[in-house]
Amino acid sequence: MLQIRNVSAGYGRTPVLHNITADVSNGQLVALLGRNGVGKTTLLRTITGEISATSGEIHISGKPVTKLKAHERARAGIAYVPQGRQIFSDLTVLENLRVAGYASKKSGWQEIVDELLEQFPILNEKKDQNGGSLSGGQQQILALGRALVTKPDLLLLDEPSEGIQPSIVQQIAKEIKDINKRRGITVVIVEQNLEFAASVADVAYVMDKGQIVQKLQTDHLLADVSLQHELLGI
Ligand SMILES: Nc1ncnc2c1ncn2[C@@H]1O[C@H](COP(=O)(O)OP(=O)(O)OP(=O)(O)O)[C@@H](O)[C@H]1O
Ligand SMILES: [Mg+2]
Repeated sequence: MLQIRNVSAGYGRTPVLHNITADVSNGQLVALLGRNGVGKTTLLRTITGEISATSGEIHISGKPVTKLKAHERARAGIAYVPQGRQIFSDLTVLENLRVAGYASKKSGWQEIVDELLEQFPILNEKKDQNGGSLSGGQQQILALGRALVTKPDLLLLDEPSEGIQPSIVQQIAKEIKDINKRRGITVVIVEQNLEFAASVADVAYVMDKGQIVQKLQTDHLLADVSLQHELLGI
């Protein structure tokens, strides 16, 4: 459902991604791993359209999106939870969800907000509190909720376990797996935390220096310390 063909991209004149080709099939949940600064976030941003590819093609569900702007790609079914989550800290939890639904211009988003408040009791409990007052884990749930309001086909998550208390991390993993299984949403998750990545995704792409250098089973990587050192520098 996501096809990336020979995509290159960067910032200004500085190239970061070199000729990336990857496929994610419908309903799959894959991890995108790699050391700091290899281009994981840049690849997600190139898929969302925040950054334009300098060459290559991206297709979502068979449709070419390479020339579409970020808001058009969002309407085409791509949702993105950025690194650090970037929820609106001065808006309430409910307002955060409503703003995302309204901006998506998709019909039926109000019903999805109601559904999300039911599905995530913590959001219902905190619905009138400012986003900024939530803990890291609660903010991550809100960020997931905000992405789901747009009824995406493809969900891109950048380091969802970052800044979250260890006791809550497993709950976040469970919610991400649920989103993939129950809603049938295809998920790409960037992670530094290999254990977390392996607990949600069976397959990982590994990046190095702006390229995809491996596709492998996360279990295999988890069991092989020297491979972790070689591919992830840990
Ligand atoms: N806004 C920007 N302007 C210019 N260069 C950038 C920008 N953002 C990232 N870069 C550079 O692009 C390269 C890839 O960065 P990117 O953030 O995609 O890596 P990453 O794999 O997500 O790293 P991390 O694990 O630290 O999040 C790095 O060399 C970085 O310095
Ligand atoms: Mg990053």
